[in-house]
Amino acid sequence: MSLPTLDNRFDDRRTIDHTLRSVQEAVRAQSYFMAGGQILKEVFQSVSGCGTIALNDFCQSWNDMPVDTYMGDRGVYRRRRHATYRVSNDHRIQKLPHRPHYQTVNYNHLNGGVERHFDPIPDTVADGAVLRALLHFASSVFSALDPVPSWYVEVHQFRIEAVEHGGKPTPEGAHRDGVSFVLMVLIDRHNVTGGETTVYSLSGVPLADFTLQKRFDIALVNDEKVVHGVSPVFPTDGNNVAYRDVLVITFRAERGVREEGACP
Ligand SMILES: [Fe+2]
Repeated sequence: MSLPTLDNRFDDRRTIDHTLRSVQEAVRAQSYFMAGGQILKEVFQSVSGCGTIALNDFCQSWNDMPVDTYMGDRGVYRRRRHATYRVSNDHRIQKLPHRPHYQTVNYNHLNGGVERHFDPIPDTVADGAVLRALLHFASSVFSALDPVPSWYVEVHQFRIEAVEHGGKPTPEGAHRDGVSFVLMVLIDRHNVTGGETTVYSLSGVPLADFTLQKRFDIALVNDEKVVHGVSPVFPTDGNNVAYRDVLVITFRAERGVREEGACP
């Protein structure tokens, strides 16, 4: 499925609020939503500090990430970094002290069950206007759908190198992340084929498949209501470097007493 061309869906008089409401309604109605880069372009244009240079610097930060050494399949094709935040229902953003990433084996049978200590996202990126604009956008959508007091938010920078036998964006297979909502943002595809995203019902019925092709194409899912997975990526030209860069932001509702310092 090709991504919707938003120019067909919103007229020139649209406002960022109008766009946000449209995304909210789409996620509310079908528990997932994907779109081309026009939405985030509107988001970046609506705030200061997200001009061309800032956006390029943000995307360039994917170029110096360490290899993920926790891969249960012994693969060395994934690079990543991690940061955590608390975001209030009115979109106030607080970066939290660096901490390990944790998933139970229920949600990640391959790599779950242990604390995974990834490098922190550098402050220039983690505290920068671009990432804050993305967190604000995600909060604006998700808080409208579930007005909880606050969210525990994890931000993951991923690079999947398209090794000859296939680099796996989701080596654990189709899965839920064990959170409330997920925003996926394509940063770059370089010399790769594959990487098709499929969204399934909780009973495993495929609901949609699409490929995030261009910078700032997005997909959002209600992680409590659908399952997602991404097919392997392969090099188009096996003689050159090949990779898929993605930003994944997860929002987990904090409904009761906060457990400061606890892993999700
Ligand atoms: Fe996921």
